[in-house]
Amino acid sequence: MKIKLSPRLEVIAGCVAGVKSMADIGTDHGYLPVYLVENELVARAIASDTNQQPLKKAQKIISEQQLEKQIETRLGSGLSVLKPGEVDAVVMAGMGGLLIRDLLEAQPDVARQKKKLVLQPMNNQAVLRKYLAMTGFRISREELAREGDRIYEVIVAEPGEMIVTNPLEYELGFEFFTHKHPLLIALIDRKIFLEQQIVINTRGKTTAVATKQWQESSLFIEKLNEVKRCLLN
Ligand SMILES: C[S@@+](CC[C@H](N)C(=O)[O-])C[C@H]1O[C@@H](n2cnc3c(N)ncnc32)[C@H](O)[C@@H]1O
Repeated sequence: MKIKLSPRLEVIAGCVAGVKSMADIGTDHGYLPVYLVENELVARAIASDTNQQPLKKAQKIISEQQLEKQIETRLGSGLSVLKPGEVDAVVMAGMGGLLIRDLLEAQPDVARQKKKLVLQPMNNQAVLRKYLAMTGFRISREELAREGDRIYEVIVAEPGEMIVTNPLEYELGFEFFTHKHPLLIALIDRKIFLEQQIVINTRGKTTAVATKQWQESSLFIEKLNEVKRCLLN
């Protein structure tokens, strides 16, 4: 039976489609490369993980689906498992934004080839977007996926120049105002909710760190509410 993806992985698969080969860095269960090959969305894939246990899970499913000829598994950290130009698209999904940034930074020769990067940071999305903008990448596509309460941000980038006109683009996605993704309001609501938790946890605390966090989160909530009002009007 063919693999069925979660909504998050389905959106990521949609961003990869259209290339011949891909690498899934931090593949864990290996669902993404299996789905892409099984549905002939890519011809060849590399599934890699830094940990032996997840890679074994991926190897098991690849062998169950009899895809060993099309999907190679590699053990190692980040982009170190790839040669520059070896695949057309690289996915790094389900990892923290800071880790994704550090993995890109660690292998600039692999990261900076004229290829597609499909990134799905679980947090610190703004830091990652800022890193991409500052280091010669352009975001060519932004997607959102919903699973329960969570809204996942998927960033597609390639080497190029990115002109950021509004600092909120780092937080809400490049060109969010013109792009107006159907889940944008849900993303803003989720971000407001998360910032409200910080406000609640830091309210009345007297340390300098807590006061700064309270101020920053309160201000950010105001900005997000303003954007929401503009989008809804
Ligand atoms: C939460 S899982 C995400 C799995 C899958 N990519 C997804 O989006 O569903 C994160 C995976 O990244 C792997 N990982 C963590 N650090 C890594 C690194 N430096 N290089 C490669 N894989 C890494 C972990 O072992 C784990 O299997």
